[in-house]
Amino acid sequence: MSNKSLEPIRVGLLGIGTVGSGVFTVLQRNQEEIVRRAGRGIEISVVADLDVQRARELVGAGARVVGDAREVVNDPRVDIVVELIGGYGIARQLVLEAIAAGKHVVTANKALLAVHGTEIFAAAQKKGVMVAFEAAVAGGIPIIKALREGLTANRIEWIAGIINGTTNFILSEMRSKGLGFDAVLQEAQRLGYAEADPTFDIEGVDAAHKATLMSAIAFGIPVQFDKAHIEGITKLEAQDIRYAEQLGYRIKLLGITKRAAQGIELRVHPSLVPAKRLIANVEGAMNAVVVQGDAVGTTLYYGKGAGSEPTASAVIADLVDVARLHTVDPLNRVPHLAFQPGAMSNLPVLPMDEVCTSYYLRLRVADEAGVLARVTGILAEAGISIDAVLQREADEVGGEGSTQTDLIILTHDCVEARMNQAMTKMQGLSSVLAPIVRIRKEELA
Ligand code: HSE
Repeated sequence: MSNKSLEPIRVGLLGIGTVGSGVFTVLQRNQEEIVRRAGRGIEISVVADLDVQRARELVGAGARVVGDAREVVNDPRVDIVVELIGGYGIARQLVLEAIAAGKHVVTANKALLAVHGTEIFAAAQKKGVMVAFEAAVAGGIPIIKALREGLTANRIEWIAGIINGTTNFILSEMRSKGLGFDAVLQEAQRLGYAEADPTFDIEGVDAAHKATLMSAIAFGIPVQFDKAHIEGITKLEAQDIRYAEQLGYRIKLLGITKRAAQGIELRVHPSLVPAKRLIANVEGAMNAVVVQGDAVGTTLYYGKGAGSEPTASAVIADLVDVARLHTVDPLNRVPHLAFQPGAMSNLPVLPMDEVCTSYYLRLRVADEAGVLARVTGILAEAGISIDAVLQREADEVGGEGSTQTDLIILTHDCVEARMNQAMTKMQGLSSVLAPIVRIRKEELA
């Protein structure tokens, strides 16, 4: 039963693009169910968008439309500001102004929170307002809720996620259809998965924004995007996707954050994942996040990481949370970053040199006696244990009569600095003919 004594909570929407229109549509369509859950109505009373005419066509008589976002932020009748503008610029100012005006904020802006989260959460804490950001990570998958609340009994050990749909779509199409990178990227843009600036997707920046947020709420550390190690998929070659498959692996762009002995790992890079893992079979633009907790063990969250209504699903879930908790003493609400502000950890984010993982190496070598022995000798000297070796016939690699071949080595875990040293030595061998390809490997066991 809804609480009839409460007026609907009033929402001001900043930006009515793909996600904003989804919020509007789903709120209207499912209003009755949502009111039964929230205990009061949730009403979009004002929408700000630069394209006023288009916004008016979208909302009809359902809400007031303005061209100036500050009218929303300063409107005393607005309880919650939903920021769907994106980016670090004007969005940051508007969010801070909304907080200063005592309004709760719901945002899908991962870039903003990953970079300016410390400032924004501190301001919200001081003012006693909520900043909710379910839609910022993995779109419609309720991973923030799971980490902040559902898994709250656990000491989180690691998280590994496919948290960028564009790159997963590109890798899936390259693998299954043998298509080239550029053609698939254009298709991803056409389908609306890619960010306005697709370099954020393909260079791993978008995934790093999301991994940064998950890292903070999993381990109770401040958001530290500047410490994340970021590699995208632009340098991946089709032959490595093929070789990985022959070895029983798929290549995925993973966002990883892990509790290690000396600190926290926070990294985004292409990774070989055993093909038998569920996450290796997440294809197309879908997202998935694996969370390992000490009590619960492994859990997997799967769903659409982008798109109008899937992202709106997360935004509205936040609106319901705010509607329910609006009148609660701020001290009794779930903390922004899951841990009490006074109980945050100062564990450092580890530099990549100190990260421990396993590796796929591909060496283009002269097909001559002793090469394998010299290469494995360097790895042995460095104390790096080999897991598997694959060598293709020279003809298969370079055509008939070829004198070159590819040597593929999978290693067991070792510290990255040690691998870097070994790679420098291997690269110095005269029989190694091209830059060595190194892709990290995660067993996710
Ligand atoms: N560009 C993002 C992606 C959209 O491809 O996953 C959702 O954040």
